[in-house]
Amino acid sequence: MFENLEKIKQQFNEELNRVESKDELERVRVAFLGKKGLVTDALKGLRDLSAEDKKTFGMQVNVLKNEIEEAIVEYQKKIEEQEYLKEINNAPRYDFSIPSDKPLGSLHPITIVQKQIEDIFKTMGFIIEDGLEVQTEYNNFEAVNIPKNHPARDMTDTYYLENGQLLKTHTSAAQNAIMRKYGAPKPGEYLKALFPGRCFRNESIDASHENTFFQMEGMMIGEDISISNLIYFMKVLLTEVFQRDVKVRLRPGFFPFVEPGFELDINCLICGGSGCPTCKHSGWLELLPCGMIHPNVLRMGGIDPDKYTGFAFGLGLTRLAMMKYNIKDIRVFNSGNLKQLRQFTI
Ligand code: PHE
Repeated sequence: MFENLEKIKQQFNEELNRVESKDELERVRVAFLGKKGLVTDALKGLRDLSAEDKKTFGMQVNVLKNEIEEAIVEYQKKIEEQEYLKEINNAPRYDFSIPSDKPLGSLHPITIVQKQIEDIFKTMGFIIEDGLEVQTEYNNFEAVNIPKNHPARDMTDTYYLENGQLLKTHTSAAQNAIMRKYGAPKPGEYLKALFPGRCFRNESIDASHENTFFQMEGMMIGEDISISNLIYFMKVLLTEVFQRDVKVRLRPGFFPFVEPGFELDINCLICGGSGCPTCKHSGWLELLPCGMIHPNVLRMGGIDPDKYTGFAFGLGLTRLAMMKYNIKDIRVFNSGNLKQLRQFTI
């Protein structure tokens, strides 16, 4: 009986020494400790022993079991280490100091302008949010006060998916979700969010219209937000982006989700105001529609319009990039023409 345990131990050590992989180790574990394993088997002999022997034998089987378990854990570590070293040794080796013979990548001009504006607004405490490109009709229209059959839906006709969802026509589609995510600000605090995104409209494409373009929306909500705050932030934005004084004009503009609503136009920087195809020969470019958030929109976002006010703006990021880099044709942006797109750097 007792010598048998010795034999099991010896046999275990021999087999363990031959193990080279985790699978083999598992096979050895089952052979000794499994339900039909040798150690389990040895316990079956207990029945025929005297009470005294039962106790000592039982104890010794347990000791053996623990020894085997420990040895297996140890061996497992050893194998893992060996496998890890093998992986490292077989991995391809790179020398990062060798200069590349491939052309370097570069940021898309829209990305450059987007990051620049994000940086400006981050320093003013705005959070950057990411709206979905596929939206529900509710988020894109109803939640921003454009009910079914409202004429504004025609102006922003877009691409509908078979499941009834659509490709968002403006970044305003994220307003409701952001209000719901953060809720009304605490007294003395503000909900300040900036949310850039790709937008889609069913447009005939020409030098200044694309069916796929970028906007950058901003929104600030608090207990005492007024039009002065809106104008201040718009001015900071444009001065920082263009790094010079830009002529602007503010006209009343209609958007169902703001009241009052404005169109902030900038003097066309491509022709200097004399008129060109980009500004449709008017000398001005619509760049920054904005306004005070409509009470219905706040209410639908779960924010009490009797207590809170806010402003929102929807910057045409693609147009801004055209102005900043003097790109005359909007079609360049989605062309994938690297020769043209690579010229722009920060
Ligand atoms: N969502 C509007 C558009 O795409 C722009 C806008 C945003 C206007 C916020 C006012 C306030 O035309």
